[in-house]
Amino acid sequence: MIVYRTKTDLTGHLLSLQNEGKTIGLVPTMGALHEGHMSLVEKANTENDIVVVTIFVNPTQFNEPSDLDHYPRTLDQDLELLRQLEADLVFVPSVKEMYPEEDTHIFDLGSLDKVMEGKHREGHFKGVAQIVSKLFLLIRPHRAYFGQKDFQQLVIIHRLVEILELNLTIVPCPIIREKDGLAMSSRNTRLSKEDRKLAPFIYETLVQAREKKEDLTPSQLKEWVTLEFKKQSELNLEYFEIVEDKGLMSVDEWNTSVNKVACLAVHLGEVRLIDNLNFD
Ligand code: PAF
Repeated sequence: MIVYRTKTDLTGHLLSLQNEGKTIGLVPTMGALHEGHMSLVEKANTENDIVVVTIFVNPTQFNEPSDLDHYPRTLDQDLELLRQLEADLVFVPSVKEMYPEEDTHIFDLGSLDKVMEGKHREGHFKGVAQIVSKLFLLIRPHRAYFGQKDFQQLVIIHRLVEILELNLTIVPCPIIREKDGLAMSSRNTRLSKEDRKLAPFIYETLVQAREKKEDLTPSQLKEWVTLEFKKQSELNLEYFEIVEDKGLMSVDEWNTSVNKVACLAVHLGEVRLIDNLNFD
């Protein structure tokens, strides 16, 4: 496994691999790797000749400076894990390396970044699109792997590939959950012991909501979920939406042919958690 810190060194190596006709799989991450990331690297390994993992805590996608400051950073541990997983190349650039000057590029994501995460984290997807497009254009992978926990991000990245007209396959990978149902996230390490015990309520509520689909309309279900969270004073529900999985339009009836996904964001102590569940 080779660790690169500069774009020039990475692209020099990639060019020779591409000239040899090797297929490249990219796993972009912000580090603090967990089993969810491991599943992406494992899948990329089975489908490509070369796996490139990037570790970069991208400042432009954080709307809260304190969230950026507290984002977990565990580089030595991450590199050890990636060595065990037999990743080929790891790219760990500095902020200056990725943003030698301010990136003013704004992608028109239509309504995709106006709802849910986009509505509550102003500028978040602008930052995600900036860094992901930079990585795509730099690395030129054949496939790129993203977890479905960040469902809206995944939809936006599909759109980004269309905008950039890239010959690139986006591979969505299932959410990996703890035994008690909590979706794995780098942010989970920031939960206090007490909050960690409360966190499975998020997934439990999503599962119960799906069971209630037979008896309640989408808007009644939204009310039910809101009330359930009100009973749990520690868990502060930011939003719960049921959307169709391509354009992220809110669903107001069940009898449509579109695939539906229920998404939510919750504040628990200092930590903001997101999760989603397929509602078909
Ligand atoms: O999902 C993430 O970890 C980040 O948003 C990504 C895609 C690595 C971009 O910084």
